[in-house]
Amino acid sequence: MKPPIIAPSLLAAQSDNYGQDIAGVEKAGAKYLHVDVMDGHFVPNLSFGPNIVEGIRKASTLYFDVHLMIEYPEKYALPFIKAGADCITIHGEAPGDIESVLKICAESSVGFGLSLKPMTPVNKFQRYYQDCEILLIMSVEPGFGGQKFMPEALERITQAKHIREETGAKYKISVDGGINLVTAAQCVSAGVDILVMGTTIFSAENPGDVIKQLMGV
Ligand code: DX5
Ligand code: ZN
Repeated sequence: MKPPIIAPSLLAAQSDNYGQDIAGVEKAGAKYLHVDVMDGHFVPNLSFGPNIVEGIRKASTLYFDVHLMIEYPEKYALPFIKAGADCITIHGEAPGDIESVLKICAESSVGFGLSLKPMTPVNKFQRYYQDCEILLIMSVEPGFGGQKFMPEALERITQAKHIREETGAKYKISVDGGINLVTAAQCVSAGVDILVMGTTIFSAENPGDVIKQLMGV
């Protein structure tokens, strides 16, 4: 089986030590960095703005997978791209203009992704999937790190894989929320390509060892 792409989630890194935390996961073999952006409206929490992305961009060559858990993402996609995002993933369920974000990403030659909350049917936004670089299956209700994995996500990953096979779309399937060594292996068996992981990586004594172990799941 192809080793999964590991996307450590910045939300769980130490805010007084981003540079070192990011360098550590990069050195261990992570290729992506997942950046959770929350607006206090679409989800009941606040996190990073473009200035943080701009700052960490100077210190890292990782692929910045920016997960916008915000309303009206068309207002903020470009500032995050200018700050250094490589892919902008928005929520299909959020109020806003999906087409505009798609256009902004295409014009800027960055990836476009769609994320689905746990209760959203996997095929709900299928008309956009041909244009998606990432289809992000949430395995917790978005908003906070450290939650428990919802096992229903496994069936949803398999559904996303079937839709990809049937339609010839090329998106990578990502899973986000409650991923540990056990749930990672289950998601990989179900067909996931990208494992987003916050707590399991950054609360470990040695995050690099966790990444190396995960690449062998
Ligand atoms: C939750 C975020 C996640 C979060 C995952 O809304 O989208 O990316 O950082 O954190 P863990 O791995 O701790 O569940
Ligand atoms: Zn996320």
